[in-house]
Amino acid sequence: MATTQPFDMVLFGATGDLVMRKILPALFEAHRAGSLHADGRIVALGRQHGTRDDYLAQVRDRALPHIKSAAADWDAFVARLAYLKLDADRDDDFRALAQCAGRRDGRVTVCYLATAPRLFSAICARLAAVGLNHADVRVVLEKPLGHDLSSSGKINAEVSQHFSESQIYRIDHYLGKESVQNLMAVRFGNVLFEPLWRREWVDHVQITIAEELGVEGRGDFYDRTGALRDMVQNHVLQLLCMVAMEPPPSLSADAVRDEKLKVLQALRPFGADDLQRCVVRGQYRAGVSEGQPVPGYRDEPNVARDSRTETFVALRADIVNWRWSGVPFYLRTGKRLPERLAEIVVSFRDVPLNLFQRPHSVQPTNRLVIRLQPDESISLHMLGKEPGEGMRLQPTVLNLDLHSASKRRRADAYERLLLDVIHGRLGLFMRRDELAAAWRWVEPILAAWDRDEAAPRPYVAGSWGPASSNALLSRGGASWHEEI
Ligand code: BG6
Repeated sequence: MATTQPFDMVLFGATGDLVMRKILPALFEAHRAGSLHADGRIVALGRQHGTRDDYLAQVRDRALPHIKSAAADWDAFVARLAYLKLDADRDDDFRALAQCAGRRDGRVTVCYLATAPRLFSAICARLAAVGLNHADVRVVLEKPLGHDLSSSGKINAEVSQHFSESQIYRIDHYLGKESVQNLMAVRFGNVLFEPLWRREWVDHVQITIAEELGVEGRGDFYDRTGALRDMVQNHVLQLLCMVAMEPPPSLSADAVRDEKLKVLQALRPFGADDLQRCVVRGQYRAGVSEGQPVPGYRDEPNVARDSRTETFVALRADIVNWRWSGVPFYLRTGKRLPERLAEIVVSFRDVPLNLFQRPHSVQPTNRLVIRLQPDESISLHMLGKEPGEGMRLQPTVLNLDLHSASKRRRADAYERLLLDVIHGRLGLFMRRDELAAAWRWVEPILAAWDRDEAAPRPYVAGSWGPASSNALLSRGGASWHEEI
């Protein structure tokens, strides 16, 4: 991979969990792989007084354990790190930052806002006030970007008073996952699938992002957020766009984002009647996860005892356009499910005439399974002949194993996206109109849940969610992939 140009990576919220668990480990891996310019600095900003050594001690305790490879280059990596105290309300602190990360030819400044979104506008205004919004500055906005359509619109409007759209990188780390990119390669780099990738041949599509974890000490944030805002509005819908979009005319950032936007705009809006039929919200109760008893959601720290926040969502989405009309897209995500699994399953229609004996369990015949987690793979489920006498069919799988197919090291999603920001590649980041379209589509669900006094349907931690999630598919003659 080409080395970046010289850069300053300014981390707002540098003592937070995201920086410690994801961003610093990703930058370390990029450093180790030789992808970062020797003159690339990381400027960590924290609210506490303290020395660089204090900060490095925290980094060692909290970020180092998240690094997979042997940390032999650790000392060389931390030599890139500077620590600066910054209070987001203090102009003086921003002036000090501008001195530290001022404009220099050929150097890019990336301001990564890993903070609460309510600070985004104020931070951007203060950056602009000290000149840190010149053409070589890029600003990265972490999700959740707002709480609903109007708060997200407000943040975007305020940020765009100081930065042009081409300077704004709205991150969705699911787009940085290798198999998501590979889905594009498989769809648009081969002739094989594209003719079949439409309503005539596709029976339905499933997208699952399942987590074994509970809310992991983030009860306060999660209880205000819930699975629809935390996962569906962004990660799940972005995956849906990658499956459903039309071939773009080029791979330029806007060409791809234009096509994704069209998918979001073609999502059939939910009416009051659809919500009962098409959306399931669940909340976990005490159960067992990874062999250990775990508490129910309402007993997690910082969660209201009568909380109605959903930890599970399953829904049927419909895309109303020529390609997809009538094809259900079943979307599902949840915490405290039996395993960590993220996958997209495209189920094709059955053959028009069944000539062979075949196992009853094999329904439907052909499925393309794009697995993002825990392993990355693409596999095509088919039927072949059972060896021996007669013409009985048996299931067989063509496996495009992404790990053994290439010996090259695979960058993790955050590493890839951070390098894209430094290189100025916007293709894997969400444009403002995409974000608004995604909020617009989830809003009726949020509004209906707000009005609804009923609690979400309970499910036992360690199960696949409420039974009504299975009913959602069985009404359309389908079942979730793990049950096939
Ligand atoms: C984050 C959510 O965006 O994605 C978390 O806020 C979730 O709640 C996480 O756990 C899942 O990401 P990944 O890459 O571990 O599947």
